[in-house]
Amino acid sequence: EGNLRRLADARGMDLGVAVAVEPLAQDSTYQDVVSGNYTSMTAENTMKWSLVQPERGGFDFSGPDALVDFADEHGMSMRGHTLTWHNQLPGWLTEREWQEEELRQVLQEHTEALLGRYQGRMQAWDVINEPFEDDGPELRENLWLETMGEDYIAHALWTANAVDPEAELYINEFNVEGGGAKSDALYELASDLLERGVPLHGIGFQSHFVHGRVPDDLVQQMERFTDLGLDVAITELDVRIPEPVDRKQIEEQGQEYRQVVQACLEVERCPGVTVWGAADHHSWVPEWFPGTAEALPFDEHYVPKPARSGMVDALSRR
Ligand code: G3I
Repeated sequence: EGNLRRLADARGMDLGVAVAVEPLAQDSTYQDVVSGNYTSMTAENTMKWSLVQPERGGFDFSGPDALVDFADEHGMSMRGHTLTWHNQLPGWLTEREWQEEELRQVLQEHTEALLGRYQGRMQAWDVINEPFEDDGPELRENLWLETMGEDYIAHALWTANAVDPEAELYINEFNVEGGGAKSDALYELASDLLERGVPLHGIGFQSHFVHGRVPDDLVQQMERFTDLGLDVAITELDVRIPEPVDRKQIEEQGQEYRQVVQACLEVERCPGVTVWGAADHHSWVPEWFPGTAEALPFDEHYVPKPARSGMVDALSRR
């Protein structure tokens, strides 16, 4: 078994993992899986609004600080997640109506506090998360769109860029990895922002895949966006398997992980791949998609699965 982290480093690729605060503080095996296999971390939840600013002007950076400290200690980079989204917003923000100017002010304060605190430390920020409806192609009617109109996207990117000029700023989206109307709408949005000189640097393909349905044309789909001059990162990879899960499916899943890492290596401007969780018992999948499971490269005992070997394979091949 090759050393995943060293192989990724040798290929100049970020290999990331989404982490949760509690196991990172309490579970030494979890810590070892994170720091031993990955070069980069994303906060699975703790940098989201409801956790960072639970009361207006009342910030809690304990979780984010713990993650950044861990990353520093282990020489890992970080992706910031996330600034404008429709989920995990605090009640004070969602339970009233805002005037446009007020909401801009709130976004400004939040951006200065959060991005400002880690300025220079975050390699990238998911500034815009899931801006389109689940099945696209319409922009999602979230708080930001309803109050500020479509321009919230450019506005959030400009604001983030002013606070952390070194961070790569991303739009992060799902159900776009295999093309289609939602992907086309994202392409139009990205082209328009770039034409207007808005600081957009990358597109995140979340890549929450279902076993057997990883797009064959992932490379082409990514290159469509990199041809615009953008980076495209795989930001939230997992491959869920319908239960009951058998050994054959787990083996095939290994090939799917290999395929995705291989795609990133093939695409000139793909900085890396992040998997959405350290091990199967910490995955969001069973709770959100009952009847599917075992989506990650380590099982519930932290035993590496064929998915891990698949990533090693991809990184070992020239
Ligand atoms: O922290 C509370 C805990 O105090 C409470 O007892 C418990 C009871 O349900 O809930 C805990 O909060 C949960 C939180 O995860 C932390 O574990 C929420 O219920 C749960 O809804 C939340 O789910 C997260 C989800 O985003 C929320 O939308 C998942 O962990 C997280 O993996 C998921 O991540 C998103 C990305 O940010 C964006 N892309 C999709 C991806 C998967 O949904």
